[in-house]
Amino acid sequence: MAPTPSSTTSTLTLDINGEKHHLSVDHRTTLLDALRERLGLTGTKKGCDQGQCGACTVLLDRRRVVSCLHLAVAAEGREITTIEGIADGDDLHPVQQAFLDLDGYQCGYCTPGQVCSAIAVIEEHAAGWPSAATEDVRPESVPPPLTPDEIRERMSGNLCRCGAYVSIVQAVARGARAHEEARTATAEEAAA
Ligand code: FES
Ligand code: FES
Repeated sequence: MAPTPSSTTSTLTLDINGEKHHLSVDHRTTLLDALRERLGLTGTKKGCDQGQCGACTVLLDRRRVVSCLHLAVAAEGREITTIEGIADGDDLHPVQQAFLDLDGYQCGYCTPGQVCSAIAVIEEHAAGWPSAATEDVRPESVPPPLTPDEIRERMSGNLCRCGAYVSIVQAVARGARAHEEARTATAEEAAA
């Protein structure tokens, strides 16, 4: 039966991890609640539910957002990636592997958001975006290396109540190195 038009609900198609999901939502539904409560994608965590902890971070068109502050209706037509879509089958993403190898977590509640955020941080940095910790932000300046200070600043929206920050910074640094190696290998293959 065709959905009844309503001034408070909409029928959406959300593109999540490469799959289309059709659902009808109240316009006030956040992307976080749509993912968790409507679609069963509970890898994305709810911490504060007010944009302060980063536990709910997902990628929208490869850029990170806190899904508790993003309405589901505003995510239609965007490419949504949640923690469930980060690995390539059984092969973990290098950032996931680095978190695992370096114990970048304790209870793991913040980890999906940390991993999504870290992937976006690495891409932002590789694209030359400065952060508040970047000393020289002139457009012509050489992009700074992804130092621990840069990682701490860029990841500062993702809190960890277990305080696993030392290992998280190391994991992001290792993930960034893996990303750089993969980029170099791809460029060399293309040039060969
Ligand atoms: S649950 Fe979204 S920022 Fe905390
Ligand atoms: S690992 Fe427990 S909150 Fe971060």
